[in-house]
Amino acid sequence: MGFFSDLKVLFHLTMKPIRGKDHASRLESFYAGQAEHYDDFRKRLLKGRQELWESLDFPADGVWVDMGGGTGSNLEYAAESIPQLKKAYVVDLSTSLLECARQRIDERGWTNVEAVEADATTFRPAEGQADIVTFSYSLTMIPDWFAAIENALAMLKPGGVIGVVDFYVSRKYPGDGLQRHSWFTRSFWPVWFANDNVFPSRDHAPFLHRHFEPIAFVEQLAKVPYIPFIRTPYYRFIGRKPRQAGQALGENDE
Ligand SMILES: C[S@@+](CC[C@H](N)C(=O)[O-])C[C@H]1O[C@@H](n2cnc3c(N)ncnc32)[C@H](O)[C@@H]1O
Repeated sequence: MGFFSDLKVLFHLTMKPIRGKDHASRLESFYAGQAEHYDDFRKRLLKGRQELWESLDFPADGVWVDMGGGTGSNLEYAAESIPQLKKAYVVDLSTSLLECARQRIDERGWTNVEAVEADATTFRPAEGQADIVTFSYSLTMIPDWFAAIENALAMLKPGGVIGVVDFYVSRKYPGDGLQRHSWFTRSFWPVWFANDNVFPSRDHAPFLHRHFEPIAFVEQLAKVPYIPFIRTPYYRFIGRKPRQAGQALGENDE
């Protein structure tokens, strides 16, 4: 059963062409045939999510927005904190993945959780502001990722927290204390992932450091199922929205 579900997912990841005239229909073309087996396979591919959610403090009566939340699997990592929240949103553009999220929310009886079909670059919670905004492996799939980060910054309360985990590659000349990936790593992974419209970037992490006060930044390597010997780089970033405009680390550097 596991191997045959994997085959189906692998077919969608490697062989099936992605079609669609806009971003939302391309996402649906990619995910519709694999939504049912999504969580099992991605648990082995998308590392660092549990660690991200274990590092986040969910405030009582807070609002949490999970951008590109897909099947809502991240809700499980935060399950103990959900009852104390005022509201949690799973925001995504894929109808098939959101269906899985809605089923999960119903089964868990979470009346304060909503799965919303919307774009991460424009979605705003009905409450006006959020305490926590997260992106797990979604920034690399959002073409206007800078707009998604700016939207998160705008909706967060001063002192609110952003949490990101995703694939990336380093810059050729990264800043002090940051990892430098080999030419092969910097060249191979962007080409390999582009097949699935996933774009590991050298700019996401610097952009996050520029706009938020960093609380944690961890760079790691993950095994990829069925691909021996090589590892793909991913990072976890947790940052705080500055309490006063212009206080993020990068903006003080100039
Ligand atoms: C690799 S999946 C990760 C899903 C989930 N966060 C997880 O950790 O399992 C990326 C998700 O981002 C969603 N996505 C891509 N572009 C988006 C956008 N502009 N707005 C909202 N969601 C988007 C995709 O539909 C997909 O569910």
